[in-house]
Amino acid sequence: MKIMAMATSLMAFLSCGGQAYTNLDTDAFEKKAAEEGTALVDVRTAGEYAEGHLKGAANIDCQEDGFLGKIEAAYPKETPLAIYCRSGKRSAAAAKKLTKAGYTVFNMLGGINAWTEAGKGIAKDGDGILVAYFSATGTTAAVAADLAEATGATLYEIKPAVKYTDADLDWRNENSRSSVEMKDKESRPEIVKDLEDAGSYDTIFIGFPVWWYTAPTVINTFVEAYGFEGKTVIFFATSGGSDLKKANADFKAAYPKIDWKDGKTLNGESKEDIKAWAESLLR
Ligand SMILES: Cc1cc2nc3c(=O)[nH]c(=O)nc-3n(C[C@H](O)[C@H](O)[C@H](O)COP(=O)(O)O)c2cc1C
Repeated sequence: MKIMAMATSLMAFLSCGGQAYTNLDTDAFEKKAAEEGTALVDVRTAGEYAEGHLKGAANIDCQEDGFLGKIEAAYPKETPLAIYCRSGKRSAAAAKKLTKAGYTVFNMLGGINAWTEAGKGIAKDGDGILVAYFSATGTTAAVAADLAEATGATLYEIKPAVKYTDADLDWRNENSRSSVEMKDKESRPEIVKDLEDAGSYDTIFIGFPVWWYTAPTVINTFVEAYGFEGKTVIFFATSGGSDLKKANADFKAAYPKIDWKDGKTLNGESKEDIKAWAESLLR
């Protein structure tokens, strides 16, 4: 029985051209997909993929027009492809097509159904991504919500322990709270420290309103509270027109152990533009 199962799991199927693809059970597939140079591809629909997929899998729907063209655009023929679908049917058909086109293909028997039945983990887009924001008057909060929706990230509000009043925000008054804080590079307005599982995020977007051409010092408080050493951090902001050049440079210099990627202002950008920008950074 065991020998039969092994034989099935390793059985190679011949296509018309005489080339073969290989069926693997979930354990063997997991090992193969983890091999250096192997591309892991989920060939289900985008909707199915969004519900949960194997960690690190790309998504190219095998039932959409141009499937082979998309694969060829993404992977050279020398790249071994480890592919799966829901139950193993669609991926078997795709494996035939890909093998005929010259690829070496490994197909997961039983698909993601068998994978979850075997107790193996599933990832979702947005896992490990945090969108944290501070917003005094709501503009940045709206952009942060769009960014979190576009990326599937966890949304978190950075809350000053003492909220800013309208008087605090009066930049024309040099004695207002914001003016005083922004003149003092060492000021660290207290925050409510309630971000859970901070260490579980690999990519952290941090949003804020530009104040005096840079980030409000409450952002320094947040960064120092959680460290984010070795993590990727990307700023986004809203402003009356200023860009993020100064904030990007200030924070890169102040916290060199963070892997900073230059962020940008998202003034009036559409949800689609925000999504495209985030995807270009997350690729
Ligand atoms: C104290 C203070 C300083 C500001 N400094 C700048 C600035 O230097 N450049 C700029 O373009 N906008 C500046 N603004 C405008 C805000 O960046 C802008 O209104 C922002 O969208 C507000 O975001 P929020 O609603 O999330 O707080 C400043 C606003 C305040 C309250």
